[in-house]
Amino acid sequence: MSVQVQPHGGIGESYKRKEDARFVRGRGTYLDDVVLPGMLHMAILRSPHAHARIRSLDVSRAAASPGVVAVVTGELLAQHKLAWMPTLSGDTQAVLATDKVRFQGQEVAAVVAESRYLAEDALGAIEVDYEVLPAVTSPQQAMRPDAPLIRDDKEGQGDNHIYHWEAGSKEDTDAAFARAARVVRLTTHYPRSHPAPLETCGIVADVDPATGKATLYLTSQAPHAIRTVFALVAGLPEHQIRVIAPDIGGGFGNKVPVYPGYVVATAASLLLGRPVKWVEDRTENLISTGFARDFHMTGELALDEQGKMLGLRVHLDSDNGAFYADAQPSKFRAGLFHIVTGSYDIPAAHVSADGWYTNKAPGGVAYRCSFRVTEASYLIERLVTNAALELGLDPAELRLRNFIRPEQFPYRSATGWVYDSGNYPAALRLALEKLGYEELRREQAERRARGELMGIGLASFTEVVGAGHGADFDILGLRMFDSAELRVHPTGKAVLKLGVKTQGQGHETTFAQIVAEELGIPAADVEVQHGDTDHTPYGLGTYASRSTPVAGAATAVIARKLRDKARKLAAHLLEAAEDDLEWERGRFFVRGSPERAKTIQEIAFAAYTNLPEGMEAGLEGVTYYDPPNMTFPFGTYAVVVDVDKGTGQVRVRRVVAVDDCGVRINPMIVEGQIHGGLCEGFGIAFTEQITFDPEGNCIGSNFTDYLLPTAWETPRFECHATVTPSPHHPLGAKGVGESATVGSPAAYVNAVIDALWPHGITNLDMPVTSDKVWAALRAKGVTE
Ligand code: CDP
Repeated sequence: MSVQVQPHGGIGESYKRKEDARFVRGRGTYLDDVVLPGMLHMAILRSPHAHARIRSLDVSRAAASPGVVAVVTGELLAQHKLAWMPTLSGDTQAVLATDKVRFQGQEVAAVVAESRYLAEDALGAIEVDYEVLPAVTSPQQAMRPDAPLIRDDKEGQGDNHIYHWEAGSKEDTDAAFARAARVVRLTTHYPRSHPAPLETCGIVADVDPATGKATLYLTSQAPHAIRTVFALVAGLPEHQIRVIAPDIGGGFGNKVPVYPGYVVATAASLLLGRPVKWVEDRTENLISTGFARDFHMTGELALDEQGKMLGLRVHLDSDNGAFYADAQPSKFRAGLFHIVTGSYDIPAAHVSADGWYTNKAPGGVAYRCSFRVTEASYLIERLVTNAALELGLDPAELRLRNFIRPEQFPYRSATGWVYDSGNYPAALRLALEKLGYEELRREQAERRARGELMGIGLASFTEVVGAGHGADFDILGLRMFDSAELRVHPTGKAVLKLGVKTQGQGHETTFAQIVAEELGIPAADVEVQHGDTDHTPYGLGTYASRSTPVAGAATAVIARKLRDKARKLAAHLLEAAEDDLEWERGRFFVRGSPERAKTIQEIAFAAYTNLPEGMEAGLEGVTYYDPPNMTFPFGTYAVVVDVDKGTGQVRVRRVVAVDDCGVRINPMIVEGQIHGGLCEGFGIAFTEQITFDPEGNCIGSNFTDYLLPTAWETPRFECHATVTPSPHHPLGAKGVGESATVGSPAAYVNAVIDALWPHGITNLDMPVTSDKVWAALRAKGVTE
């Protein structure tokens, strides 16, 4: 007979996800599952035009439609000073348009009715007279002197320029280029993409007319920060606002900002005294909520004769849409883009960036990304591969020659980042070994000789995650700490309350594992709570892979603090000196007498029943962790492709991933995160983009145009790891949530370019669709 031993669930165990017990049974509570008595439903009228003046708006027929309780307009909101709201980047954004519409899909009016059907029906009865204006759909158009002025609402705004920003030393970089033997250039566009979570955004706003308390059920990755934003915008005291983020069906950055629909629903509930629900449909989500990327980038890499990198010069133009609403809390205007020197020891670098208004949806969210690190990683990894191909060097060899060496850490980059740790050659070498690189290169040579197209692409990315220390990061002045509150009950079971908010990453499991490791209580006995501002300590939320670096550290710190108190209690119970006690996971024992021991459960009971003189009862505490630096996960992704000459179709044959996120709390969950990211990277590289026609009509407004990869076309992923602990994180962990989304697009595209390079094709902008590949091959006379 075999005895089933319940796993402890400490760090390093692939412990099964606790939250899946409810998810796989369909027992999760998502926003649309929230149903309150007397609840009304809201639908939003959106602009069909990208740029138009509103001559008139008549809602009288809609207001008289069956079941309609109210129609909210910008004019009505203006009476309450809510027609405009601040953005996370210090700009203003229209909640409901009053003067002009500035992108297709912009919010114009909202109907609140007894049902969603009746609200949607009444939208058709709203009459808007638009004077259509010419639309601006790219930074190149926006910067023309005769370009239409988009933000004529802003005093002193005479053009479409938002910001200019620089990092690094121009002088040193110019000097490096002056002595370079070779300069390699690449101009590329990282297309506008969308996080496209399975669950769209939504709110149930419930303002109690008796108490004035606003309870907002919200698809939010950052409930506490959102509550503060609401308090500041609406002028309500914070204790009168409760934000509850229920189960979230994917966020990926899309659920960080405050969207106009949230403000309108809350205002409607306040005015009507009834709960109001608003849930986006798929098209609303894709056309109006936070997009990602849309950077036009030029990179130049200066090298000496041996292929040693001397300098990097980068310029980018950022397409920010109609309102500058980048959701990024750094003091840098282009986010963390200046990590663009990547994994390489480049002595001089200069980055310049310009932001532009266009007639497109606002956003610039960190789609599974640390605030623009994705664009940076893509640019440098494409540039390095092109440099190798131009110089006739193996792309792996050029990387190895230029990596920051393990002994150089901590390493200060030319743009000012202090990388905490890394071992880039180890990750690359492991990837090459697992791939069978040399054999594949031999196969490639043979295939090339037969006229076939095969490519091997590498990307040795470095990230910067864990926002972030107070010197560089804040939201409305709030430092980017995070918190953990741990309470051990008398029976030795625990509740851990977090300021971060899981959206599928498995926090209810991995954070319990941290407690299991540090305090010895089995993970099964640790309940993790999050997402309710009335019942969790203040935190800045989950995005940009910051949960493990910041809240994970807070959890370890508070568990250790409770362990310190537990030691005192154990000494009391064992009548021994504290210094004579040794800790092994789950119990203290007297050194030399392991049988004289007290388990953490016995100690927890004593914390409420049998205390030493003068000690406070209970075993609980809260801690706030302000990280001293970011963490720098890294890795190498390697992709093998075969390209069909006749059709341009790319078949991804192999994907090998080596990730280093330091100490892994749950290797299975880490691997799941990497699978998801490699899949998203595949979609971005080959199929996904939101684009616009010359009138500013959004193409990519549904899942037949915005092509998410499914299990059918996604390749198989082979995952491996190296472990380089973060020196400053209490557990040695680094974030991992975004790594593969950030790092893999360059590997996929590098593989395609590696295949096509012999035919003079040096770049293809993403998405690398088969018709693009085919057209490029045709232009070079490779295919007919
Ligand atoms: O902030 P977010 O949760 O999106 O990203 P993360 O901190 O990288 O964590 C993603 C998931 O991977 C969480 O469940 C983490 O606890 C887990 N993880 C881990 O097990 N070990 C690491 N070194 C990093 C993350």
